[in-house]
Amino acid sequence: MELADTILVTGGAGFIGSNFVLEWFRCEPGHIVTLDKLTYAGNLRNLESLAGNPRHIFVQGDICDPELVGTLLAAHRPRAIVHFAAESHVDRSIRAPGEFVRTNVQGTLNLLEKAREYWLRLDESQRGMFRFLHVSSDEVYGSLGPADPAFTEQSPYAPNSPYAASKAGSDHLVRAYRHTYGLPALTTNCSNNYGPYQFPEKLIPLVLLNALEGKPLPVYGDGLNVRDWLYVMDHCAGIRRVLSKGRPGETYNIGGRNEMANLDMVTTICEILDELRPDAGIGSRRKLITFVNDRPGHDRRYAIDATKIGKELGWMPQTHFEQGIRQTIEWYLDHMEWVAEVRSGAYHDWMQLNYGRR
Ligand code: NAD
Ligand code: TYD
Repeated sequence: MELADTILVTGGAGFIGSNFVLEWFRCEPGHIVTLDKLTYAGNLRNLESLAGNPRHIFVQGDICDPELVGTLLAAHRPRAIVHFAAESHVDRSIRAPGEFVRTNVQGTLNLLEKAREYWLRLDESQRGMFRFLHVSSDEVYGSLGPADPAFTEQSPYAPNSPYAASKAGSDHLVRAYRHTYGLPALTTNCSNNYGPYQFPEKLIPLVLLNALEGKPLPVYGDGLNVRDWLYVMDHCAGIRRVLSKGRPGETYNIGGRNEMANLDMVTTICEILDELRPDAGIGSRRKLITFVNDRPGHDRRYAIDATKIGKELGWMPQTHFEQGIRQTIEWYLDHMEWVAEVRSGAYHDWMQLNYGRR
């Protein structure tokens, strides 16, 4: 069986996945088959610029569906699977963990099993070329104290939220498929991403849109929890690098070298918006900051040591935070139709559930 110059991308209608798919067509040859269930977080509008592009096929479906995944692999003979599909929001995982186990653990298991069957049927030379790239998170390593060194690939797993636990479970399955069956799998563990197309339940777009409208800016706890923020395009470049040059069986940490307390992030967004969209009725947007009840089990600090991917594969983040955050804010201001669409329907129910009595 010949391998095609095609990759299968799961979750390609979500935030990082859609940035990855769009960027792929700007800098790589070949075809993409995007498999996405289009949950509340998936949006075909993210990929609308690809309508009619003969290099792209979109399939709406579930990664937990063995028949569908098997059929897609047999029909398109991809040289790689890049696996983004997941339930991704920590607060939702606290409210309803079951769906996180189903998609993130069982879905990944199903993909691995179907990939293994497909891979075993390839000729030996082609078997060596195939890759399964699993996109994961720094949250699997747990929480750091203020003076702790950043997470390396050797840091022990200590997931604290149901989301992190389900991603850790999927990472372990990927490792086991490599170790037990020899599947050429790689895992990337990345820090918090920001950029265009992020669903406005996550901190940056949520704060940005509330601030624009003069609404309260909910900051959990004391606002001093620290995250390492990476511009999404830099993450996508890192994934492409791992796909082309990474050693099967390895894991690579990807980070932005940009640790920030949540309160500093929110303040930065306020200042940029005050400059780009001054509003006399609202005044200084900092005064909209509202401390609300903390997230249960809220991890204090994440930080990534990305030395390995830098040294082995020559990847470094390219986008300075000041530039990336400004671009991101400008993107949202220029795409208010997209915002209106994703905030309709079920979005209101979530806002009420998470913030109504916080
Ligand atoms: P997202 O929630 O924006 O998108 C997830 C996508 O997966 C959506 O398009 C959704 O429709 C799809 N999906 C969900 N369940 C599915 C299923 N059962 N079958 C098929 N498709 C399904 O998530 P994101 O922020 O783009 O994250 C993508 C990946 O990157 C996830 O695996 C996440 O754990 C990981 N990650 C995210 C971040 C971050 O900061 N956002 C950081 C590190 C790692
Ligand atoms: P989030 O964007 O949900 O990403 P993650 O939980 O995966 O890091 O949250 C980023 C940080 O912002 C996290 O420490 C929680 C905090 N946060 C708030 O303070 N208020 C909010 O309304 C949200 C959604 C998050």
